[in-house]
Amino acid sequence: MSAYNLTVDLGDRSYPIAIGSGMLSAGSYLADALAGSQCLVVSNVTVAQLYFQELKPSLGDVTVDLIELPDGEAHKTVSTVQSILDRLVESKAGRDVTIVALGGGVVGDVAGFAAACYMRGVAFVQVPTTLLAQVDSSVGGKTGVNHPGGKNLIGAFHQPRSVIIDTDTLSTLSDREFRAGLAEVIKYGAIADTEFLGWLEENMATLLNRDPEALACAIRRSCEIKVDVVAEDEREAGKRALLNFGHTFGHAIENTVGYGEWLHGEAVAAGMLMAAAMSDIEDAERQRLVSLVEAAGLPVDPPAAGAANLREAMKLDKKVQSNKIRFVLLRRLGDAFVTADYDDAALDRALEPTGA
Ligand code: NAD
Ligand code: GLY
Repeated sequence: MSAYNLTVDLGDRSYPIAIGSGMLSAGSYLADALAGSQCLVVSNVTVAQLYFQELKPSLGDVTVDLIELPDGEAHKTVSTVQSILDRLVESKAGRDVTIVALGGGVVGDVAGFAAACYMRGVAFVQVPTTLLAQVDSSVGGKTGVNHPGGKNLIGAFHQPRSVIIDTDTLSTLSDREFRAGLAEVIKYGAIADTEFLGWLEENMATLLNRDPEALACAIRRSCEIKVDVVAEDEREAGKRALLNFGHTFGHAIENTVGYGEWLHGEAVAAGMLMAAAMSDIEDAERQRLVSLVEAAGLPVDPPAAGAANLREAMKLDKKVQSNKIRFVLLRRLGDAFVTADYDDAALDRALEPTGA
C-alpha cells in the first residue's frame, strides 16, 4: 500500500489528505490524527456494518465509542446533530475528543458540524466512503445540515485534522451512488481543467467499471483542484464559489423534490447543464458537457418540478446577495465565473425540461 499525499495549506490549520487502497487498516494515519485518548466514530447504520470493525484497530490504544446514525439525506438535520452532542455529553467527552466521520457526505457534514459545535470546536477526521465524499465533501471544512426551507442553511466552517481516503471502500457503493459522485468529478473538469475533462471523456467507461487506477487518478486530480481553491479562498469570499457550479440549480432541485429523492450528485449533474444552458458558450461546448453527463448515466434534465417552484427554492441559496441570485456560469469549458447579471428569459429556459 502506498498513499498519494496532498496538503491543504491553511497555515496552522493545514492538514494532510492521504489517498490509497487499504487505507482503513493501513499505517498510523488515523492514530496520528487523533487529538487525545478519546474518540467518537460517527457513522451510519449502513457504513458502520461494512467498515467500522476494519477501521477500529487503526485508531490505536484509545477509548472508542461509535454512534450509528440513520441513513440518508433526510437525516441531515439539527436533531441528528443533537443526538451526537447528547452522546458526547453522556460520555463526558473532553476538549481533546476526536470525532471521526466514517461515511459519505451526509455523515461527514453532520459529524463535522457536531465537532464544530461541541465545546466550541473539537478535532475531527474525515474518512469518506463514497466517491462524492472522497472527491469533494471531505475536503475544505464545510460542515452543516439542511433546513426544511433550504439545503445546507445551517452550518460552520470547521476544517478536519486529516482526510483519509480508502479507495477500496468504493467497491461496495451502489451504481447509482457511484454515478452521483462522478457529477462532482465532472464539475472540476468543467470549471477548471479541460485536459481533465478530455481524460474523463476518454476514460468514462473505465471509471464506470471502477478500474482502480482510473479511479485513483480521478480522485487525485479532483482533490488537487479542490485543495488549490480552498487554500486560496477558505471562506468562499471569491473563487471558492466556483466549486458551486450547478449547485444553485441542484440545491433547488433537491429542496423542491424532497431531500433524498434526487441524490445530491444527480441534482448537481442536471444543475450543471442548466448553468451551461444559461452560459454564453458555443453549442459544441455545451453539447460536450451534456454528452459527458449522459455517458456517466446522470440526469441531463431537471425534474418536472415547475420553474416557479425551482425559482422560489433558489431564493435561499447562500450565494444570494441583496435579493439577487448569483450563478456560476461558464465563459468557456474550464473557465467559470460568478455573476448576478443574467438574462431572466435564459433562466426561465434553463428551468424547463428540454424533453431530450
Ligand atoms: P450519502 O452520505 O448519503 O451516502 C450515499 C449512500 O451511500 C448512503 O446510503 C450511505 O449509507 C451509502 N454509503 C456510503 N459509503 C458506502 C460504501 N462505501 N458502501 C456502500 N454504501 C455506502 O451521500 P453522498 O453522496 O456521499 O454525500 C451527499 C451529501 O454531501 C449531501 O448532503 C451534500 O450536500 C454534501 N456535500 C457536502 C460538501 C461539502 O463541501 N461539505 C460538498 C459536496 C456535497
Ligand atoms: N462543495 C463546494 C465547496 O466545498 O466549496
